Amino acid sequence: MSADKRPGLADATRGRILFGGDYNPEQWPEETWHEDVRLMRDAGVNSVTLGVFSWAKLEPRPGEREFGWLDRLMDLMYENSIGVVLATPTSSPPPWLGRLHPETLPRDEDGRSEWWGGRQHFSHSSAAYRRYAAAITEDLAARYGGHPALTMWHINNEYCTYDWGDEAAARFRRWLQTKYGTLDALNSAWGTAFWSQGYGDWEEVLPPRHAHYLKNPAQVLDFKRFTSDMLLECYVAERDIVRRHTPSPIPVTTNFMPLWVGQDAWRWAEEEDVVSVDLYPDPRDPLGAQHGALVQDMTRSQARGPWMLMEQAAGPVNWRGVNHPKPRGLNRLWSLQAVARGADAVCYFQWRQSRQGAEKFHSGMVSHAGEEGRTYQEVKQLGAELAGISGEVTGSHTSNDIAILHDWHSWWAGSHEGRLSTQVDYAEVLTTWHRALWQAHLATDFAHPEHDLTAYKLVVVPQLYALTDAAIDNLLVYVRSGGTLVCGFLTGIADEDDRVRPGGMDPRLRELFGIRTLHEWWPLDAEETAETDGFCGTLWSEEIEAAGDASVEVAYKGGELDGLPAVLRNGRAWYVSTLPEPHALRVLLAGIAADAGARPVLDGLPDRLEAVRRGDLLFVLNHGRESVTVQVPGTHRDLLTGATVRAEVTLGRYGVVVLRP
Ligand code: GLA
Repeated sequence: MSADKRPGLADATRGRILFGGDYNPEQWPEETWHEDVRLMRDAGVNSVTLGVFSWAKLEPRPGEREFGWLDRLMDLMYENSIGVVLATPTSSPPPWLGRLHPETLPRDEDGRSEWWGGRQHFSHSSAAYRRYAAAITEDLAARYGGHPALTMWHINNEYCTYDWGDEAAARFRRWLQTKYGTLDALNSAWGTAFWSQGYGDWEEVLPPRHAHYLKNPAQVLDFKRFTSDMLLECYVAERDIVRRHTPSPIPVTTNFMPLWVGQDAWRWAEEEDVVSVDLYPDPRDPLGAQHGALVQDMTRSQARGPWMLMEQAAGPVNWRGVNHPKPRGLNRLWSLQAVARGADAVCYFQWRQSRQGAEKFHSGMVSHAGEEGRTYQEVKQLGAELAGISGEVTGSHTSNDIAILHDWHSWWAGSHEGRLSTQVDYAEVLTTWHRALWQAHLATDFAHPEHDLTAYKLVVVPQLYALTDAAIDNLLVYVRSGGTLVCGFLTGIADEDDRVRPGGMDPRLRELFGIRTLHEWWPLDAEETAETDGFCGTLWSEEIEAAGDASVEVAYKGGELDGLPAVLRNGRAWYVSTLPEPHALRVLLAGIAADAGARPVLDGLPDRLEAVRRGDLLFVLNHGRESVTVQVPGTHRDLLTGATVRAEVTLGRYGVVVLRP
């Protein structure tokens, strides 16, 4: 199937926001299924995900099939106009598979097995696992590919396993042979002249297992790439099977974990018809809304259009140290925040809270308190509201003026244990930069460093330690063609093999930013700050010498770096050699954005308020508990209440308006 003929989310939504969640009816007697359907209908649920963890129920013994229960459920859903996102059950193999084929169990760096008794205990590299996974997928797809309840295929669940075992080692070698061709090329890319690591035979090459001291960084980097690729192979194999059996345009997805380190989601998104993500901000975190915004911005950018919120929690999760419920209104607020940022599906883990098993204290849309419980009552209210705005919302997409660059390979390369400061955490730096823009009410997309950036007024690079030549050229072309670029420290240090660039930072980038010499990096301790004539720097500082034309916008003050650039500007290219404390970063980026012509979504918005454009609609969200009145130029209609809004609107605690001009 060619890419433009592929089904998409619109084939599943058909103009309605999908609302529902993971449904695990195998945990309940059949009477409860009928009760569930009644409650689903009352709550406006139009989509359930079935079968995510059903392998042992579908295949109780090797090769046996028990589909009767699922037949009844598929029919029940269809009779009640509830679409089914049908999952392949391959993320949690039945105990018999591990017993029959111990090689399907992944091994950690020390060679220890991950046993059944939990979940996701499968090796992506195991031929037996892949064979059994393909067989159950084949039969599932053949049986339900034409079922009228089916709206989408969901492959596996949160692919996230690593394996250092023997079968993985064999596949790693094959992957490396494809990549490098010869051992000489591998030895060169991995820098094996260091510490006597030269390989003379492919059989000597291993995954980076437990070692006495620091591991080879390039080997570790390739292992992370390999792991992402092997999981992707598993996904693609199952995707191709379900596609083969599915006559009508049924899209295929798999759910990402938010900003998860193990999966190159840019690459994965290309293989999906629908990009979906699971999102669980901490209700107690004052910056939970920003975490949500970041993940939503990233998912929308991967999807290049509407996307699916596959899982969120209606109340508490059960995997933090302390798991807080959502205060009244927060579930609605965060759901509408996702819709504002492009979600055409608002779904949960899970429909009915379990009474047994490891997640019995994890919330569901129907909590232990049942129909009368606040959780279900709020879910029901949300279902009605989503149904009310669906027609105006679904399918619309907005791209923004600002792109934040993000790349998994650079993250992997920059996280090596032998780096200068373990205080520098890529995801935290990325989050801090996104937060500064979010707090300045500037809307952002994410982009890969090799994407076409020319449509953006401002491109920011919080940190891209390793960049390919193509990415560097892309940044140069972007600035040359009129774009404004701001880069944070530790950018352009290494090439794609994690080889340090000449001069400690790529010479073309040094020229772009006006850095004559990078003398030394000066990482800062946890509580340490670097004084400048503008703000306090944190985490990192640098001894750099500016070239003739560049202007030192902010200089270090006192200490070893006195007078040297903390912020350096060379025309439209800016370089920030420390992490300014949060307020200063916000002011700095807002100023640069204004000069570049990127405007806030609404002017004069107070903190805790967020404004998001989606198509013609303007969403305004109050993340605070106090009522706030906001100026909104013009006249609008609030799609949630039908009220006319002239010039200003008051939002109560966790209030939301969805405004149509
Ligand atoms: C993930 C999984 C779900 C469930 C939730 C709990 O998102 O996909 O099966 O375990 O976490 O938060």
